Amino acid sequence: MKHRSEEVFLWAEQKETFDKENRLASKRIKSYNLKVKKGGFTMSYFKHLELLPPDPILSLTWAFKKEKNPKKVDLSVGIYHNVNLDKEILKCVKKSEEALLKLEIDKAYLPVEGNPVFIKDTERLLFGKALADELEGRIIGAQAPGGTGALRIGGEFLKYSGLENIVFPSPTWANHPTIFNRCKMKADFYPYYSTETNSLEFDKMIAHLKTLPKKTVVLLHACCHNPTGCDLSKEQWNDVLAVVKKNGLVPFFDSAYQGLGDNLEDDAYGVRLFARSGIEMVVAYSFSKTLGLYGERTGAVFVILSSEKVAKNAATNLKLIIRGNYSNPPRHGGAIASYIFNHPELTNMWKAELSAMQRRITEMRHLFTTKLIDAAKIVDYRHIQDRKGMFCYTGLRKQQVARLKEEYGIYMPGSGRVNVTGLNEDNVHYVVDAIIDVTEKS
Ligand code: LMR
Repeated sequence: MKHRSEEVFLWAEQKETFDKENRLASKRIKSYNLKVKKGGFTMSYFKHLELLPPDPILSLTWAFKKEKNPKKVDLSVGIYHNVNLDKEILKCVKKSEEALLKLEIDKAYLPVEGNPVFIKDTERLLFGKALADELEGRIIGAQAPGGTGALRIGGEFLKYSGLENIVFPSPTWANHPTIFNRCKMKADFYPYYSTETNSLEFDKMIAHLKTLPKKTVVLLHACCHNPTGCDLSKEQWNDVLAVVKKNGLVPFFDSAYQGLGDNLEDDAYGVRLFARSGIEMVVAYSFSKTLGLYGERTGAVFVILSSEKVAKNAATNLKLIIRGNYSNPPRHGGAIASYIFNHPELTNMWKAELSAMQRRITEMRHLFTTKLIDAAKIVDYRHIQDRKGMFCYTGLRKQQVARLKEEYGIYMPGSGRVNVTGLNEDNVHYVVDAIIDVTEKS
């Protein structure tokens, strides 16, 4: 397969690395077993394990903490920072926790699938109440430890059900290939965003989806595509649905930013369109960003099945997968969320706080991109203006990202993805000047 853009190449390269790692790991284990058999073993059963590189996103938090540069700027992990660049706890969350402190009478296990109130609330938020009611009986849901936990459980469920192949947009969130690789699914990529034209490669995406065999799982970012911020239009969602239906593909939505792109309704357009169409699909949902519950690991997985009978059986299989992984989910995050969703004054407080985060994201993107466009003499940054969500996909190369870190204490993942909430009026000039320095001056 030929890959035109460097980015597509990078992601294909990442898949190759995964495949190679798997092959090497089994080779190493075989030769090690042989040694053990021959009596060559002395020290450890784990000697064949190699030192792996740090996580490309999460490791930056700890590196940033140690950074000595007084002007340092954190544009790395997708965590919302307020105007003072603090990682805050939402007021509605604090109020909910205060109430829970008095109300909670035990810390007993939740059911294997989690808190039923939380699952229902999340379902209604995601699909809207009317559609959630329509899906009743055909939809199964489970609380999960964050969006990653939801993706993992969904992936294992698919693999267990006999669906082996999954494709991701190129590029995608760095953790997607890892998660589904661990589910032992075969991963590949479909064209999504070109770093040559800095735009969506929609025709190529559609053409590629048309070539996929039946039963292939297609990972779709529900909104605020991570890392590009480049989303599908309503018409494009319709076109993707037509191909998915015609070719018997299985959509798997990753929804981690509902409300942070445009609003709670528009950001769910794709998910709801597909759910209404009657096809079978999976959604992984995260409250990390939208309720700021990052470390509380609060999410959910939903599977829509073709009939009540299929759903009934499927639910028991999903439960077994959960039981075999972490038994039942952690309680606190789901309890916080369901208390908020069942107290109108707190729900309204949350909606106001969510809108405020969305506005700050939009304002910071505008500030950053206008300053960058004005300052740049060679590189054209107009493409990052009308993107959605927390991230700006700048197009910076790995070496430039490394220079920003070493020379300026500015941190972002190697992909050149910028979390715009790491910016404010005070540091935006510093960041823009540094970017111009590493991209336009020798
Ligand atoms: C991100 O993309 O930065 C976040 O979703 C955090 C993570 O787990 O990678």
